[in-house]
Amino acid sequence: MNQMLAINGGDPISRKTIPIHMPYLDKNDFNIVYNTIKSSYVSGNGPACMEFEKELAKYLEVKHVFYTNSCTAALDLAFKVKNFPSGSEVIVPNFTYTSTALAPLLNNLKVQLVDVNSYNGNIDLSKIEAAINQKTVAIVPVDYAGNPVEMEPILEIAKKHNLYVVHDTAQSLGSEYRCQKSGVLADVATYSFHGTKNMTTGEGGALVTNCDEIAQKVAIMREKGTDKQSFLVDKQDRGYYQYVDIGNSYVQSNLNGSLGITQLRKLDWMNSKRNEIAQYYIEELHSLPNIELPKITENSKTNWHIFYILVPPKQKYWIMDALRAEGVQANVHYTPLHRNKFYSHLGCDVDFPGSMEFFNRLLRIPIFPSLSKKQQQYIVKAVKKVIQSL
Ligand SMILES: Cc1ncc(COP(=O)(O)O)c(C=O)c1O
Repeated sequence: MNQMLAINGGDPISRKTIPIHMPYLDKNDFNIVYNTIKSSYVSGNGPACMEFEKELAKYLEVKHVFYTNSCTAALDLAFKVKNFPSGSEVIVPNFTYTSTALAPLLNNLKVQLVDVNSYNGNIDLSKIEAAINQKTVAIVPVDYAGNPVEMEPILEIAKKHNLYVVHDTAQSLGSEYRCQKSGVLADVATYSFHGTKNMTTGEGGALVTNCDEIAQKVAIMREKGTDKQSFLVDKQDRGYYQYVDIGNSYVQSNLNGSLGITQLRKLDWMNSKRNEIAQYYIEELHSLPNIELPKITENSKTNWHIFYILVPPKQKYWIMDALRAEGVQANVHYTPLHRNKFYSHLGCDVDFPGSMEFFNRLLRIPIFPSLSKKQQQYIVKAVKKVIQSL
């Protein structure tokens, strides 16, 4: 094999590009969707959706689970049910997907960006209190890459300042913080089942809470402001339901709900596959010069939603191109919010040194349950080949 880099005309490590992500779908998934179509119950909040919610509640050990059409919708709902005075402020980490910040904005609230740790992309705990003022009503911590945020100190700050905590766990289903599933300690947590996530229902999300009062409101607002949910669940044979509040349609089709059932049943297995791959990468790459590997929060377990390497910032894009030339679909992730046109008025690079350092160094490499041993070996070889050439 020609050891010249493929980017310079050498032979690539893998002739076929190894994708960054692939959903894991098997016969059980195909069968359940087929059978659900045959049942003709295809519309929203059907029996399969309810079964999925029940199984997810058991898995997370929480009281209420509401399956929604996305995590973005679940985040929006989390604020819709609170009715905070317009102009109130919400603390959002600067290194996240736009949905985390859209939720307060869609509810006439203001976003206050807080910087993240330069070593793992989670909110910088030491910078939260400085961002709190009289108008602050909530905080939305995020588990970046599936790695749990330190929830205990966040809950202490929230208690001291009477803040509502919405935990954006879009990426961290199955991760654990202090022996509990990540998400269960917040007032509300929101998961994603988008095709790129550790389990998928095509599109989809869930709002999870232990609070009965929030749950009652979510049930109505998810169903266009109607009391259809109680009509369905309580089996009251009234033949109609009332329009009782404002709302939107956040319910998800029974077809997607059925996929949730089979996907959830293999989630722990899929996450254990990701863990095996991550451990292999760590073993093979930890002593390479010039890169750092993910640091997982103490007393936590990550679901390895994303595996990244931190590389020298000046060479990041060259390394990405060189890995791609070797047949490995490396990628960047999350442009910090303030770097996007829509959020650029909320700060500049000097305000967010942690986010900028993390972003400037971060490169994702493929991780998904069906990644074969051969592909894993190719990825390791490609990373070594490229990094050792620096
Ligand atoms: C942190 C975070 N929040 C929210 C979302 C939105 O999820 P969905 O696509 O299910 O709306 C994502 C999607 O990647 C995300 O990474």
